[in-house]
Order: sequence, then C-alpha cells, then structure tokens
Amino acid sequence: MKRTHYCNNVREEAIGQRVTLSGWVNKRRDHGGVIFVDLRDRTGLVQIVFSPERDAEMHQQAHVLRSEFVLTVEGVVDSRPDETLNPKMDTGMIEVNVDHFEIHSRPESLPFNLDEEVQENLRLTHRVLDLRRPAMQKTLMTRHAVMQSVRTFFDGEGFLEIETPMLTRSTPEGARDYLVPSRVNPSQFYALPQSPQLFKQMLMIAGYDRYFQIVRCFRDEDLRADRQPEFTQIDLEMAFVDPDDVMAATEGMISRVFKDVVDQELALPVQRITFDEAMDRYGLDAPDLRIPLELTNLTEVMKNTGFKVFAQIANMAGPRGEDGMVKALRVPGGAKLTRKQIDDYTSFVGIYGAKGLAWIKINGPWREGGWQSPIVKFFSDDEKDAILAETKAETGDIIFFGADRSRVVHEALGRLRVKVGQDMGLMADEPFSLVWVTDFPLLEWDDEAKRFTAVHHPFTAPHPDDLDLCLNPPEGEEGNIAVSRVRSLAYDLVLNGVEVGGGSLRIHDMNLQRAMLKLLQIGEEEAQAKFGFLLKALSLGAPPHGGLALGLDRLTALMCGVESIRDVIAFPKTQRATCALTEAPSGVDPAQLRELHLRSTWRPKSD
Ligand code: AMO
Ligand code: AMP
Repeated sequence: MKRTHYCNNVREEAIGQRVTLSGWVNKRRDHGGVIFVDLRDRTGLVQIVFSPERDAEMHQQAHVLRSEFVLTVEGVVDSRPDETLNPKMDTGMIEVNVDHFEIHSRPESLPFNLDEEVQENLRLTHRVLDLRRPAMQKTLMTRHAVMQSVRTFFDGEGFLEIETPMLTRSTPEGARDYLVPSRVNPSQFYALPQSPQLFKQMLMIAGYDRYFQIVRCFRDEDLRADRQPEFTQIDLEMAFVDPDDVMAATEGMISRVFKDVVDQELALPVQRITFDEAMDRYGLDAPDLRIPLELTNLTEVMKNTGFKVFAQIANMAGPRGEDGMVKALRVPGGAKLTRKQIDDYTSFVGIYGAKGLAWIKINGPWREGGWQSPIVKFFSDDEKDAILAETKAETGDIIFFGADRSRVVHEALGRLRVKVGQDMGLMADEPFSLVWVTDFPLLEWDDEAKRFTAVHHPFTAPHPDDLDLCLNPPEGEEGNIAVSRVRSLAYDLVLNGVEVGGGSLRIHDMNLQRAMLKLLQIGEEEAQAKFGFLLKALSLGAPPHGGLALGLDRLTALMCGVESIRDVIAFPKTQRATCALTEAPSGVDPAQLRELHLRSTWRPKSD
C-alpha cells in the first residue's frame, strides 16, 4: 500500500476515488457501531470511517486503534452525510470509507495528549510528540518558508551563500564563548562562532562583494524567551557600500519574506530614528511604535522645585554624562487607574531600579483642585503650568514621573510605556511595525572592567563627524564623557519592539582599527594575538564594507505570533541551556577526557 494523497489534500474532487493515506491516529470516536478516526499527517486531518456494515472483520480490528497509532489505510472517498459536515475542517466535506488498513506501530503510553496544555519542560522532554502538534508544524513550516524566501531573494540580488567555519577563534560579540578542546593540539581550544563577523569581513576583503549565510551562532549568555545559546542568523555583508545600501538590501529581503510567507505588504522605506531620539522619546533602543505614548523631559522644569527628590536629581551630574533626569509619561485616559494598579506599576518600575513612581491624575484644571497626586502640593503654579504645557496632558489623563540617572529613568519609563500601552489596549492595530534605529553610540562604559567596550563590536566604524573626537579625546573625565557620546555607523532593525537585526559599516582602514582596539584598551600584543589575522587582512587592500545580521528565530517567532523563540526551533535548549530530549550536556567517558588532555577540577559544593 503506497500513499496516494496527503491527508489534507483529499477534497471533494476526489469523491468516488480510491485513495491510500498514511499517518497518525489523531482521535478515535465510536459512534453506535461506526468507528471514526481523524487521521493526521503534517498537512492536516482527514476523517476515515470503519463501518461494520461494509466490512465486519475490519471494523472489529479497528477497535484496537488508539491515539498516535501509525497507519496506512486504503478506501473510497465519499461525501459526508449532512449531519457530520464540518466547515471548520479543510477536509470537512468528505470522509474515506476504509476497506484495508495496516498498523505500522502502536505507541505504548503517551506522556500527554496532543491537544492538552502541558508544561514546557514536559513538552521539551518529549519533543517528538510535541512536534506532532499542528501549532509546532505550522511554525516550523513558516521557518522553512522564511529560509527559502531569503535564499531566493539573495540569489536574485547577486549574493553568494558562503559557509564559514564552526571550529574557529573567538569573535567578540559581547557574550561568553563555547569552547571545544583540540585533541591534536593539546591544551588548545576552538571557539564556536558567536557570529561569522570576521570571516564575512575577510570575504569582502577577498573580493566576494556580496555574501549571505543562514548560519548557526553560539553564545553562552543568560537565557530569556528571545535568547538561545545556539540560534540562527540571516547574515549578510556587502562591499563598496554605505549604511543606506545595507538598509535598502535588508528592506528588500524582509519585504520579500513578508510577502512570500504571510502575504503582507510592508510600507517601504522603513522609517528611521536615531538612537538619541529613540531614548529621548521612548526610553528604549528597541521602541514599539505601535504604542502611541511618549516620554517628556521635565529635567529643566524641575531644577528648582519644592519636591526635593526631583530638584536634587534634576541638578545631579553623573559620571560619563549620565546626568540626573526627570521624565514624565502621559497616559491618556489613565486617571481611571486604581490605586492598586498604580501600586503594581510602581513595583514594576522597581524591577528596573526606579526608586518610586510619582503620579498626577488630571481630573480637572489644577486651579479648581482637579489634580490628584501625592506630590502636587510641592509644585509651584509655574511648575504646574509647565508640566501641562510640556506633557500636553488633558482631563482624564495620568502623568507618571521617573527621576534618577538617565539610564534608570529610560529603562523604567520605557518598559512602563510598553506595559501600560498593552494593559490599556492602546496598541495601534498594525500587525508588523518596523523601525530602524541608527547612530548607536560607539562605546559604553563597563563599570566592572573599568573601561570602554564596543556597543556593537570592535569592528564598527565611528560616525565620520565624531571621528576626530574618538581619536583625539580630551584628557580625564571630560574626555570620558566625550568618548561616551561618540556615535557609530551602527543600526538596528526593530520589529514590534524587538531587536530583530543589527549591523554596521566596518572599519576598513588598518590604522583606524588599531586605534579602535587601543581605545578599547586592547594592548598591541593582545590585539596581535586575537585579531592579527584581521589586521593582516586589512593590510592587503580592503574595500569599504558593511552588513547586518537578522535573528531568524526572533523574526519567525514574530511572524508566527508566538511568545518564545523556542516555539520556532525544532530542538531548542531549556532556560538552563540543556537539551531536555537528549539530556545534553552530559558527562563523558574518562578516556575521552584523557585523549583531550583534560581533567575536571569541579567538585560538588559540600553543605
Ligand atoms: P548581533 O549581535 O546584534 O549582531 O546579532 C544579530 C541578531 O541576532 C539575534 N540574536 C539572537 N537570537 C537568539 N538568541 C540569541 N542569543 C541571540 N543573539 C543575537 C538578534 C540580533 O539582532 N555580527 C553582528 C552583525 C553584523 O554586524 O553584521 C551580530 O552578530 O536578532
Ligand atoms: P515620598 O516623598 O518618598 O513618599 O514619594 C512621593 C511620591 O514620589 C511617591 O509616589 C513615590 O513613588 C514618588 N517618588 C519617590 N522617588 C521617586 C523617584 N526617584 N522617581 C519617581 N518617583 C518617585
């Protein structure tokens, strides 16, 4: 018996035909002697019928069928009697009257039913069963469609897909490396790539002009719903380009993918805002522009206020330009929030380090006593007028206040903006909202290491207007402040408030690359040891070049409307970076360790 149709492809046209179908028993129902089975394959379901009138012996055999039995059945397609028509099912107009069938295998006990909501750990442990669920099949098929669409687009645009090594040297992207010991070179290690960054740059120097790759990357970092230790990038690099060219190529690719996969037309060109503007207006570098709320800067207004907490912060100078800041978030219609809701929001901003969340409910004009607030008594009339003028608040609104170092205010009010926007149903009805965030800072201060680190990576080109500042900064703290403000030619692509991609123009001048490594306090010797091969390549004649990488997992998750990227990865890792299915990582045979010249020094902690 050889399959003639996939389950979901048996439609009314096939009525009267003999078909052979293979798949899993989704559900078996006994209806007054007749046995109905929904047979499932990756395309969907079809109803098959075992009737005692047609074949008593076969009907008898069908009694053993249970969920997830694997079958091949042969029979004739028939229209369904009116009372069993099911317009919700693609194949709901027909059924197949079985006259032969073969059971390929009988599962023993099932850890859960496919239509049961179960804990994710159980799902991941029994991933084979979980992957049979139509929801998982849909996301993996969408992922496949995204990959095919990406490849077709790039091929058509003259990009070459070139593979880069997995056993390589560390490429700094800000996470820890996964290391692989070398057997033939005792005591030496490969690093799994955090990204193909340096290889794609070297391909540009080698003259390949346009490269892309759908590539696995590895980062040993703290996991969250949108982070996995191994994940997939859609990686690209182009020579003789400026940032506009890279952004245009990316927009072309992504609009092609949305058209091909979810039949959505994206509005092009994608809007752009600078990093500074994103922080100022939305508090986050990955703003969700579907939320029609913005922050207002009230630092100037609060310099002399009677509310001492605010006045003090408004006049506070912070290290490396991280001055004190007072900002407001006006929420239209927010005056109806309850005390409990405001308390919950206060705890919420506390997660991001905020020390409080002052508020004013605008129930009417302040002159008529219409402002309800724990702090309004401290404000002068001028301050109240200024708050109104700046925030443009109206009757029925609430204004929230954050006061702290700018980093804390932005993160706290930025996250609050998203949360309140979602809670109050203020989101614009727009399924996909894209924005480029450009001109990221080049460097950020690492308080632990007491030095600057690259915001994107150390190969990102400084903004030409800030180049001099970057190379010849003033001495001392003033210099530190200046350097922390140097912009780069780096850009992120943000979809619905999630960073789905990031890239930059690169440094193609060897001397500038050396200077950058120096600024990052990577000494000559260390630079030579870690990046000597790149510096050498740059000395061989490098074209201006730049590129970007999109997170395939994040992009697919957003397109599928699922919360976690684990739902678009066939075999993802758990929050503890383990594979629940294979139980990796695992101990290894001592002989393997000896071969690798390794010995574990780890001992369980004694109580
Ligand atoms: P970046 O580090 O910004 O850039 O990574 C690019 C995109 O990859 C995705 N991503 C992840 N997805 C899932 N799990 C993770 N742990 C994870 N880390 C990153 C994000 C991110 O936007 N070499 C540069 C690109 C370039 O400059 O061309 C790079 O890797 O969606
Ligand atoms: P307090 O005077 O500490 O009782 O605070 C009065 C109001 O101001 C409360 O609603 C606090 O949540 C709020 N508040 C206190 N400190 C801050 C701050 N740094 N930023 C924003 N609001 C604050």
